[in-house]
Amino acid sequence: MNTGQLHGDEAEARDAEPRNTHVGFDKSTAPQNLGVDSVPDTRIDATAAISYWSRLPATDASVLGGHPQISNADLRGSFLFLAKLLRQTPTISSDEVRPQRRFVDCGAGIGRVTRGVLCKLASTIDIVEPVKAFTDQIKGETYVGAIFNVGLEQWNIGDLGIYNVVWNQWCLCQLTDAQVVDYLIRVQAALVPKGWIVVKENLVRHEAEEDAYDDTDNTITRTDRKFRNLFKQAKLEVVHSELQRGMPPGLYRIMMYALQPSAHVEEIAAQRRSKRTAVAQLATQ
Ligand SMILES: C[S@@+](CC[C@H](N)C(=O)[O-])C[C@H]1O[C@@H](n2cnc3c(N)ncnc32)[C@H](O)[C@@H]1O
Repeated sequence: MNTGQLHGDEAEARDAEPRNTHVGFDKSTAPQNLGVDSVPDTRIDATAAISYWSRLPATDASVLGGHPQISNADLRGSFLFLAKLLRQTPTISSDEVRPQRRFVDCGAGIGRVTRGVLCKLASTIDIVEPVKAFTDQIKGETYVGAIFNVGLEQWNIGDLGIYNVVWNQWCLCQLTDAQVVDYLIRVQAALVPKGWIVVKENLVRHEAEEDAYDDTDNTITRTDRKFRNLFKQAKLEVVHSELQRGMPPGLYRIMMYALQPSAHVEEIAAQRRSKRTAVAQLATQ
């Protein structure tokens, strides 16, 4: 994961760790391979990406771009965000230790988020992650369900209507824009009614910038407006969004988006409108 921070000396010292070559440059000084062209997502090479991830040790440091120290703040932010969303559903019961819900952790890496957040809010978590050596780290935990060792663009989403939450963290950056839209359309069918798709991804430093390609890990760092545009194309509504807080200075902004199918959101809005009309009519009688 490209965190957006350039630690020259530190990175040199960490041979086995992922390198972050992207950050600290502004566009005027960006080297060629940083890809500030207008359609950087076409440069994504899925084979090279898997090869990059497969070479790394299965550790927090690897899946956090060489910054394992950010894990706690990240997990805390994710937990609060998700708990807030789930309180809006009628199924939550605060005294349940592990509520009967099914989530899927997409681009799960070594299961850092599953272990640190998702298993506290669901009884079963399926895993989608192309690198088997990563999922071997979480395999066998009682709360882990099915494991799919494929990329999201190839995931054959078989079971319909089973997930309360589809969690996507730092993995949509591995897909092209078209693949993101295609995946987000397909995955909606796997949601239970009123289920959530969560996307947690880096954003470029300033909205005025364009999406940027990084050839170290074959990722795209997108703008907020690009994400919202992709969600719109997939007919998803951003019901809530929040920036991750408590990260060290110098990293990319990290945004959490809570999404629901637009049709569902429109249905709720219509229900509210008709309820308000009914109340207003009663008041005038
Ligand atoms: C930065 S790590 C994040 C892992 C995890 N979400 C976390 O937050 O700890 C990115 C993960 O995306 C996985 N990945 C790479 N290409 C992918 C693809 N096409 N679909 C899904 N995941 C992919 C990598 O193998 C890696 O485990």
